[in-house]
Amino acid sequence: MNIDTIITQPFDDQRPGTSGLRKKVKVFQTPHYLENFVQAIFDTQVDLKGGTLVLGGDGRYYNREAIQVILRMASGNGVKKVLVGRGGLLSTPAASCLIRHYKTDGGIILSASHNPGGPDEDFGIKFNTPNGGPAPESVTDAIFQRTTEIAEYQIAQSKPIDLDILGSITLGETQIEIIDPVKDYADLMMALFDFNRIRMLFESGMFSMRFDAMHAITGPYATEILEGRLGAEPGTVINGTPKTDFGGGHPDPNLVHAHQLVALTKGAHAVNFAAASDGDGDRNMILGCNFFVTPSDSLAIMVANAHLIKGYSGGISGVARSMPTSQAADRVADKLGLPCYETPTGWKFFGNLLDARKITLCGEESFGTGSDHIREKDGLWAVLFWLNLLAVKQQSVEKIVTDHWKAFGRNYYTRYDYEAIDKTDAEALMASLRDKLATLPGQSLNGYPIEYADDFAYTDPVDGSVSERQGIRVGFADGSRIVFRLSGTGTEGATLRVYLEAYEEDPSKQLQSTESVMTALVDIALNLAEIEKRTGRTKPSVIT
Ligand code: G1P
Ligand code: ZN
Repeated sequence: MNIDTIITQPFDDQRPGTSGLRKKVKVFQTPHYLENFVQAIFDTQVDLKGGTLVLGGDGRYYNREAIQVILRMASGNGVKKVLVGRGGLLSTPAASCLIRHYKTDGGIILSASHNPGGPDEDFGIKFNTPNGGPAPESVTDAIFQRTTEIAEYQIAQSKPIDLDILGSITLGETQIEIIDPVKDYADLMMALFDFNRIRMLFESGMFSMRFDAMHAITGPYATEILEGRLGAEPGTVINGTPKTDFGGGHPDPNLVHAHQLVALTKGAHAVNFAAASDGDGDRNMILGCNFFVTPSDSLAIMVANAHLIKGYSGGISGVARSMPTSQAADRVADKLGLPCYETPTGWKFFGNLLDARKITLCGEESFGTGSDHIREKDGLWAVLFWLNLLAVKQQSVEKIVTDHWKAFGRNYYTRYDYEAIDKTDAEALMASLRDKLATLPGQSLNGYPIEYADDFAYTDPVDGSVSERQGIRVGFADGSRIVFRLSGTGTEGATLRVYLEAYEEDPSKQLQSTESVMTALVDIALNLAEIEKRTGRTKPSVIT
């Protein structure tokens, strides 16, 4: 086997964001672009030499080509064994599961998550460490540093490898094992949830469900688990065949992008339960009959009910939520006497807390929930958690949620996104907010007294690392909150996210529309950040 050493030059834009390096496909197709980044992974993650690597992606456009390059580079860099999902496919949670299950030296996941796919759309790559989680900042910083000084990369000469046949092949000294992408993950789910009970729910004839895979990676997983192992009727999984362009859609499970599914929860033939996942399978949306569960509430409800679920019946050690996520989980943790952590946005901040067993459950407002079973958020896991809960409680989704509000209060919640705005304008907007912080506490805006205002900083309780400037928080005396931050995953200009939360303890006021409850807070947010003046936008691109 010949290994070529290719001379290359650094690119100056390979700093990983919230979740790996994400760029347009065209950027990744630039000669040496992908190779440089992959070589930077091999150069910095030295255990991969002579070690084992998990490799797979969400099946989007350029997935197969990138897998071929990475396999040849793995061989060129002395990796002993690579576990690849058949067809080059692995959901993000399944990759995390495999890294942990086979105790590998890490994994490379190809995905741009919920961003659209296709020749003119997005691609992404990230490295996960041996705990199965996204690399922490120390690792991504080292990889980035390496990309700035890279001069050559190693790549084996080889014909394309057949990714579609299960089994083992060798590429030089490297063993490549093409594995079933679903099996180990599905086995893990069976260990956590009461499949017999869920099967009885499906067999009762009183319960119907649809799962929208959005033409993305969870199709094969959901079909095997829901229709195969749990006996849900064929057709329960919709849009279940992964496509390289996600059928031209935006594979993000929210009320806007999963409207086809939302429609199935309404009207005379509405299903009892509906759920969707995103491009790479780590996000989830939970719906009941004509009812939407906010991701923040979903996390809180999981914490409150974990004792009813097989894999968590022994008790949970604590919970964490990302800073912009509503404080609904905090209220449950408080009542149950559980530790509750507030972390910066991004799943990587949960890793240390999970590894140190300080928490069992964690989640983000951005349709992400998960537990210590892996080190990524997990879309299908959340769906199975809810199915198990429905099977145990024999109640509707709506009843479970509204009872929860009665017991703990309701945190009304909404997020406004302003996408693809000018980067300089966005940064100026944030800088101007920062300048105002010191003078805000004590002031009243639209009759709302401000209790605190800060730029969120987080000190990791496990390793003491500090992450600063993680978003502006403005907290009001009645428990309401506005958060402003810039996205770290976008590939075009900047995206401003405005997160709004209002707390209501009184059950008689818990059934209002979120929009009506939020009017005053929205007004405060728009004025405080001078959004229209600074971005030229009169309304957000998406409201979730
Ligand atoms: C977004 C979400 C964040 C999530 C990340 C990866 O990041 O807000 O919660 O962890 O995608 O799925 P952002 O674009 O806001 O940086
Ligand atoms: Zn995702």
